Amino acid sequence: MVNAARAASAEPSRGLALRIDNLSHGFSLEGHKLPVLERVSLEIEPGEFVALLGPSGCGKSTLLRLVAGLEGADSGSLTADGAAITGPDPTRVMVFQDPTLYPWRRVWDNVALGLEAQGLLKTTKGKVDEALAKVGLSQFARAYPRQLSGGMAQRVALARALVNEPRLLILDEPLGKLDSLTRIAMQQELIDLWQRQGYTALLVTHDVEEALLVANRVIVFSDRPAQIKAELTIDRAYPRHRDDPYLVDLRKQILGLLGLGQSW
Ligand SMILES: Nc1ncnc2c1ncn2[C@@H]1O[C@H](COP(=O)(O)OP(=O)(O)O)[C@@H](O)[C@H]1O
Ligand SMILES: [Mg+2]
Repeated sequence: MVNAARAASAEPSRGLALRIDNLSHGFSLEGHKLPVLERVSLEIEPGEFVALLGPSGCGKSTLLRLVAGLEGADSGSLTADGAAITGPDPTRVMVFQDPTLYPWRRVWDNVALGLEAQGLLKTTKGKVDEALAKVGLSQFARAYPRQLSGGMAQRVALARALVNEPRLLILDEPLGKLDSLTRIAMQQELIDLWQRQGYTALLVTHDVEEALLVANRVIVFSDRPAQIKAELTIDRAYPRHRDDPYLVDLRKQILGLLGLGQSW
């Protein structure tokens, strides 16, 4: 018992197993039902990095919100390590396209938010410093959000998620607003963090190349209501190279699935 407890606390947070079974969901829109997800089934292994691609408005963010427990699904089931997802939980943390930092709080205090909300800050202050170190922002702990670049603000948002030691990191186009050079650097950071922390990662991106560079598996959705159109396993070690012919070929295939085959 003692050994098991010690081993568990010494290990980095391990990834969550996620199972999505026959999940359907819709919204009411002016008296009509708008179907958004249709019988989506997906199994994600602990520690996998899965990227979701699909046309804008098909239901990707909706799926992430259901996984995060921010909304309840109309039908079907969602489980984390076999237990039904019935609400938000600090083991499943979401990062959005906008960093949404509180402008009046310093970087450190923004990252501390989750621990503060759980009443844990007094005993776990060191975790804030650790999370800032993980994203390379220790020096900016006392800065205000307005003093940061877009990439740095997004790294703060990542640190704010990591401070909870998530077992599932849910990323909704987290790099979507960054310039292309920052984006490339942060794609590498996402891979490094994931490899070091061992969590399961679920990423929505509109960038096919990004999905192929970071994920073990890519899921392609249809137009709304989103159904899984294809699943591709990306059998390449990291770091990957965007001009790798294997990835270039997969990119063409995926663009074809998204109806953009002729555009590139
Ligand atoms: N809270 C909501 N109420 C009504 N309709 C919504 C709501 N959230 C999303 N939708 C609709 O659901 C569809 C899918 O949205 P979303 O999941 O955000 O798409 P994606 O992330 O793939 O671009 C869209 O048509 C959107 O208008
Ligand atoms: Mg979205």
